[in-house]
Amino acid sequence: MALDGESMQVTISSGNNINGTLVLPLFEGEEALPEIDEGIPSTLKSQINRVLADGDFKAKANATMTLMGTEGGKAMLVGLGKESKADVHAYREAGATVVASCKKVHGDELTVVFHGADMACMTSFAEGMMLRDYSYDLYKKKDDDHEDTNLSARINCDEGDATTLSAAIDRAASIVSGVHLSRDLGNCPPNDMYPMAFAEKAELWAKQYDNVKVEVIDYEAAKRHGMGGLVAVGMGSSRKPCMVIFTLNGDQKGQHPMLVGKGITFDTGGISLKPGANMDEMKYDMGGSATVFGTMEALASSGYPGKVIGITCMAENMPAANAQRPGDVITTLSGKTIEVLNTDAEGRLVLSDGLWKAGTDYDPEYIVDFATLTGACVVALGHEATGLWSNDDDFRTRIHEAGNDVGELAWPMPLLPAFEKEMTDSKIADTRNLGAGRWGGANTAAAFLKQFVPNRGEGDDAEQITWAHMDIAGTYWGAKTNKMVGHGATGIHVRTMVRLITGE
Ligand code: BES
Ligand code: ZN
Ligand code: ZN
Repeated sequence: MALDGESMQVTISSGNNINGTLVLPLFEGEEALPEIDEGIPSTLKSQINRVLADGDFKAKANATMTLMGTEGGKAMLVGLGKESKADVHAYREAGATVVASCKKVHGDELTVVFHGADMACMTSFAEGMMLRDYSYDLYKKKDDDHEDTNLSARINCDEGDATTLSAAIDRAASIVSGVHLSRDLGNCPPNDMYPMAFAEKAELWAKQYDNVKVEVIDYEAAKRHGMGGLVAVGMGSSRKPCMVIFTLNGDQKGQHPMLVGKGITFDTGGISLKPGANMDEMKYDMGGSATVFGTMEALASSGYPGKVIGITCMAENMPAANAQRPGDVITTLSGKTIEVLNTDAEGRLVLSDGLWKAGTDYDPEYIVDFATLTGACVVALGHEATGLWSNDDDFRTRIHEAGNDVGELAWPMPLLPAFEKEMTDSKIADTRNLGAGRWGGANTAAAFLKQFVPNRGEGDDAEQITWAHMDIAGTYWGAKTNKMVGHGATGIHVRTMVRLITGE
């Protein structure tokens, strides 16, 4: 459900007809068209061969060249880099590059002809095309300059591969719909994206699937339940906070993955007001919740049969007469108290209730939270990697590897006892929401969250539930080197989570 219209159609054909622009992914060093040239107009073919023979197109990774046949036909050559290094990631990037390079002259139909690409690489190329075929134009008047182009692509393949490839690409399209949904939610301007608006979108979304359920805990209910973190952050806004719970395949028995998202629909900092520069970017501060919602869409739409539950903690952090103050002590759902020393460290407050609920009301195999939590994480890792913390080294490695598999980097960060100590040495409460100094701010935030992950069972041998925290402050938007997206929200980690949960 991309709010901004369907994403591009990619179909499979076992013929060698070429419709629209021919797209040719090529390896570095190829000096002539490989034996895949049936159906290519002969003048275009000789033009391509001349360009390759003269070394005018070297097929370096992500280079493109467009050729117009003198007697009809158009081609876009795209580089895959060296054949020995052309893995699924190279193909995914090349696919994205093709779409990013499409201009009016290429028309809206592409035919991709591969050679020497296996099923995984062809699927990955299609995935890259679909991921990159996204723009957020909902608030733009449609005119000639901004007309909707509905790009479609056909992949020519061997007859024997067609059915399998077609199924793989359909699955990829479902997952991409989850990524695009996450982007749509993140890009939505904050006057239209507020806690209950997110909840309503979730309820509307749930109607299209028989096996999903969405439950909304509104402000009054959150107060009744004692969700002191969520309430404290959201009470200063006229648009009140809520918690949205997504259940996929709820009738399945047994333990299940559990996702928790930070959903600050706008983060002004509250009374600890942020400086003005780039404050508009704080509309993306609900990126964690968008990741959860997008993952649920990806799983539901690709027909995943297992049970998965997502909890999104939605609030708008505003300065107001009824906003929380620095110095307040709040009581969270867990019963633990927090001394609020800075109202801009609000993500951890809403997550304290989400994590606690996740571990106590359900029986999760593991909990993963997503949050645009700290500027410090962006200082540490830039826009290149998500910060990844876990109370279980093997689990952290599994997430790191799932991210690597899909080209979404999540970098291991330390969860140290010293950071926990720093966050629990409040003079008047159980925890404090601010570290003692500014160093290691992403680590102290993670250590704070750990205080709100419940144990499994009770007594001496109770162990903390397997949990990981992903700080997406640097990767949810503004990642210029992420080739899968032009600008705005990236929709990062929907694909990582699908990989982790489904193993595919
Ligand atoms: N949403 C911000 C974190 C953020 C900042 C994400 C910049 C992306 C870019 C978060 O709520 C916040 O303000 N964190 C503070 C914490 C501090 C007060 C301990 C921060 O990072 O400065
Ligand atoms: Zn903040
Ligand atoms: Zn925030």
